[in-house]
Amino acid sequence: MTAVAISATGLFTPAQSITNEELVTAFNAYVARHNAEHAADIAEGKRAALEPSNVEFIEKASGIKSRYVMNKEGVIDPARMTPIIAERPDTELSIMAEIGVAACKQALDRAGRSGKEIDAVICAASNMQRAYPAMAVEIQEALGSDGFAFDMNVACSSATFGIQTAADYIRAGHARSVLVVNPEITSGHLNWRDRDSHFIFGDVATAVLVESAEIAPKGSWAVLGTKLKTKFSNNIRNNFGFLNRAAPDQSVDWEEGKTDKLFVQEGRKVFKEVVPMVSDMILAHMAELKLSAEDLRRMWLHQANANMNRLISSRVLGRDATEDESPTVLDEYANTSSAGSIIAFHKHSADLQPGDRGLICSFGAGYSAGTVFVQKAA
Ligand code: COA
Repeated sequence: MTAVAISATGLFTPAQSITNEELVTAFNAYVARHNAEHAADIAEGKRAALEPSNVEFIEKASGIKSRYVMNKEGVIDPARMTPIIAERPDTELSIMAEIGVAACKQALDRAGRSGKEIDAVICAASNMQRAYPAMAVEIQEALGSDGFAFDMNVACSSATFGIQTAADYIRAGHARSVLVVNPEITSGHLNWRDRDSHFIFGDVATAVLVESAEIAPKGSWAVLGTKLKTKFSNNIRNNFGFLNRAAPDQSVDWEEGKTDKLFVQEGRKVFKEVVPMVSDMILAHMAELKLSAEDLRRMWLHQANANMNRLISSRVLGRDATEDESPTVLDEYANTSSAGSIIAFHKHSADLQPGDRGLICSFGAGYSAGTVFVQKAA
């Protein structure tokens, strides 16, 4: 079997960001407007008043301090609470492809490759802008690549599922250079009016160039092993889909309360169920690869919740991990779905030495989880 390597990564970070303070100010202005508008119903007990959010809760419960977004104006407008992203003509590159291409170009530059050398593009993300043609095919065209391209969605685990899929094509001899790209415009699926989750997500795009080790450039990462797992759960769900308009007794209500056509979760249950699932999976994969905690120089974990990562890393190491061993990017980026562990890897891997080993690990809706163990090559 052909050995596989990660040759380079790329990151696109949107220009605009929202602090918790700005977010909470907008949310609380929305709550005040909403409660004033429905004051009579609230007084008569026909409807519950909405509760305000607060910065201290957000930081303590999640570790998130800010998030990048493609459009700030719409999100922090209490009358809108949704990003403003104009539709583009079919003749223009779509916005999701645009940010994906930006991340891919950085990965290609870092590896010294041109788009022409890429055999396949996998667009792996938790939301696609349209049903078809695939975002991946649009990105492939923009990069000037030949070969094939397709979209895949495994929610927050899309990147690691994409890396294993790319690795399998290389192992089987179907491709030598595969770009896995994760454009995440999560601001489109986040319900900015929902107090329980309005602080969770941010926008970004990452790219991972997965290649045959034979052609990987100096300083690449050998892929020691990949593992994927899914287990059905309703605790993270989004019921938006092409059959929504066919339901006789439903219409999509974006304005009111919790809508199941945007992201919804039972955060407490997710926390409790996913921590053991992921730590057990990591430990089992380490045992299979004959790796002990001492062999692991760094963990680039999915970036959803700082407390969750603290627990997972301590179960894996048998002690608390330092920030150096398990770096955090969610304070600045929030949860960027599939891109989180890749941002952490992209920003916090340059200092590792040849022979150092690490773990890229994602987890999320499905439930789904993926582990990719890597070792810095000479
Ligand atoms: N501001 C102030 N208070 C808030 C609030 C907000 N924005 N949102 C919720 N609260 C309140 C709740 O109403 C609740 O009040 P109560 O105790 O009086 O009932 C209290 O804070 C605790 O809420 P809870 O939802 O249990 O908080 P939590 O500690 O579980 O933190 C999450 C919430 C979402 C941050 C956390 O559960 C989480 O991150 N879970 C994992 C999620 C995850 O990884 N998802 C993967 C997505 S891909």
